[in-house]
Amino acid sequence: MTTAVLRPHAEEAFAEELAALAAADDRPRPARWNLSPWAVATYLLGGELPDGTVITPKYVGPRRIVEVAVTTLATDRALLLLGVPGTAKTWVSEHLAAAVAGDSTLLVQGTAGTAEEAIRYGWNYAQLLAHGPSRDALVPSPVMRAMGEGRIARIEELTRIPADVQDALITVLSEKTLPVPELNEEIQAVRGFNVIATANDRDRGVNELSSALRRRFNTVVLPLPAGVEEEVDIVARRVEQIGRSLDLPEAPRGAEEIRRVVTVFRELRDGVTADGRTKVKSPSGTLSTAEAISVVTNGLALAAHFGDGVLRPSDVAAGILGAVVRDPAADRVVFNEYLETVVRERDGWKDFYRACREVAH
Ligand SMILES: Nc1ncnc2c1ncn2[C@@H]1O[C@H](COP(=O)(O)OP(=O)(O)OP(=O)(O)O)[C@@H](O)[C@H]1O
Ligand SMILES: [Mg+2]
Repeated sequence: MTTAVLRPHAEEAFAEELAALAAADDRPRPARWNLSPWAVATYLLGGELPDGTVITPKYVGPRRIVEVAVTTLATDRALLLLGVPGTAKTWVSEHLAAAVAGDSTLLVQGTAGTAEEAIRYGWNYAQLLAHGPSRDALVPSPVMRAMGEGRIARIEELTRIPADVQDALITVLSEKTLPVPELNEEIQAVRGFNVIATANDRDRGVNELSSALRRRFNTVVLPLPAGVEEEVDIVARRVEQIGRSLDLPEAPRGAEEIRRVVTVFRELRDGVTADGRTKVKSPSGTLSTAEAISVVTNGLALAAHFGDGVLRPSDVAAGILGAVVRDPAADRVVFNEYLETVVRERDGWKDFYRACREVAH
């Protein structure tokens, strides 16, 4: 499918898969859900339908995690996806909303500046001044719209939102209603409504969730990929998808450079080499799977525009350096030490070592 949109929403990008799933799905669906919980889990984890339609995996990870997340959405508890950066929290949230409600766009981006209007409602002031408070002057938030339409609202980075604004969610989640005192009305949530929030492990403490709010959520922790193979698989898949939308050349599956980028990131992240023999220092950057995906995608673009279309060490070296060195002084030392003690000695990594050295010095 080719459209002019740079990044179509999940429900558009995977419209065919969702339609095939809906057609094949004969299990019971919760009120207003487009699919049964089983079909939603299949959409996320991938599979093959009886008619031969292949459903591509969106999330690569433990099946149970996805099952718990999907089931939560069918209860009266909201879903909180928690994890370190780059563990696909936002990605999973978007695909869940797309599969359950056919709409992933009812989104609140949480920041320190997120105001109550983003969760409740605001006013169109021209209307308000001209005609006074009325339904027409009311500007519903994505949460209010989701309540009225029985859909899924998404709240990104919940813990960054100031505590008093977070509290606006408590009534919504426990009473399933949103009072509008100005109109002497309330918006009652229609069946099918629920909330998926994401939060970053590292932000915990910035605005610790109040226990009252936390009780309204089932928390599902998204883990880092368990092994190298799993992480290489995730990176290769995503790079292929992103590359297709950018018209980049294909990186052969399991390309050597993808494996190297993933290995380097894992070793620096874990503070020890893959064989467990050598301790290495960890840099300050987060070196997540997401970071590896962007390093490889940039490398492919370099190879396409300035190389021979084949991903080579020199195409990823600069990207690796950029991801690793966040603090110019300390991280550079850490990376050089890693290059000299680990990469240099590794069989078959000569060209990679040379490419990294060239950009690192
Ligand atoms: N286990 C995984 N399965 C599939 N894709 C993954 C996985 N882990 C990471 N990704 C990919 O990593 C990219 C980044 O993920 P995403 O932005 O959702 O992370 P996040 O957890 O929201 O990070 P942050 O805390 O920085 O917001 C996405 O393109 C996603 O496809
Ligand atoms: Mg995110």
